[in-house]
Amino acid sequence: MSTTARGLFVSFEGIDGAGKSTHIEALAHQFTQQGRQVTLTREPGGTPLAETLRTLVLNQAMDPLTEALLVFAARRDHLNQVIEPALARGDVVLCDRFTDATFAYQGGGRGFDSAILSQLEQWVQASASGLREPDVTLWFVLDPRVAAERLSQARVPDRFESQPLAFFEQVHRGYQLRCDQAPDRFIPIEADRTREAVWQSVQAALRVRGVLT
Ligand code: TYD
Repeated sequence: MSTTARGLFVSFEGIDGAGKSTHIEALAHQFTQQGRQVTLTREPGGTPLAETLRTLVLNQAMDPLTEALLVFAARRDHLNQVIEPALARGDVVLCDRFTDATFAYQGGGRGFDSAILSQLEQWVQASASGLREPDVTLWFVLDPRVAAERLSQARVPDRFESQPLAFFEQVHRGYQLRCDQAPDRFIPIEADRTREAVWQSVQAALRVRGVLT
């Protein structure tokens, strides 16, 4: 008898420059090899509307409340159009950033009221089974100074990447707070190592939890 796989929701977090992208791709490959359907997506984004909102958020000046409302508006559309249907099909959803990024960037980085963010989270992520959250969050932890060094060699910076070091220190603290509040969901991955060493840690952490076989 064949059983339908349960949907699995994995998010990937970290300050800009922490190097999560290659590991997301590699995990997508790994899950596919194991016979799972994978939905690979990102935030802000993942739908035509949410990608339009992403372009605005990354490029237009706006006040912190507007920024928070736009990332949550993008998230609502993304959940409705992509994430919930994929989980209902039994897919593995690999999402490059989710709500922890809002608490880290808008809450920590911009200093926006996290109580308001929590309210928006409750509204936007309400589902039939309660608050929709990732099952597992891989947090790529990197010293903001090292990340800044890596980013200085990268492409043209967007509104976040061009922020000073102090901003990323606050973002890091924002992530740490979320990690402390949800230690069962968060998996911190020490990212200041070779790509291969980080990749080994990613796989090991997911195997221990029975997420990867
Ligand atoms: P990122 O995920 O780093 O994509 P890329 O690799 O293409 O640069 O960029 C998204 C940016 O958006 C990142 O700087 C963090 C920011 N962001 C927020 O400020 N709030 C959010 O809720 C999310 C999801 C992202």
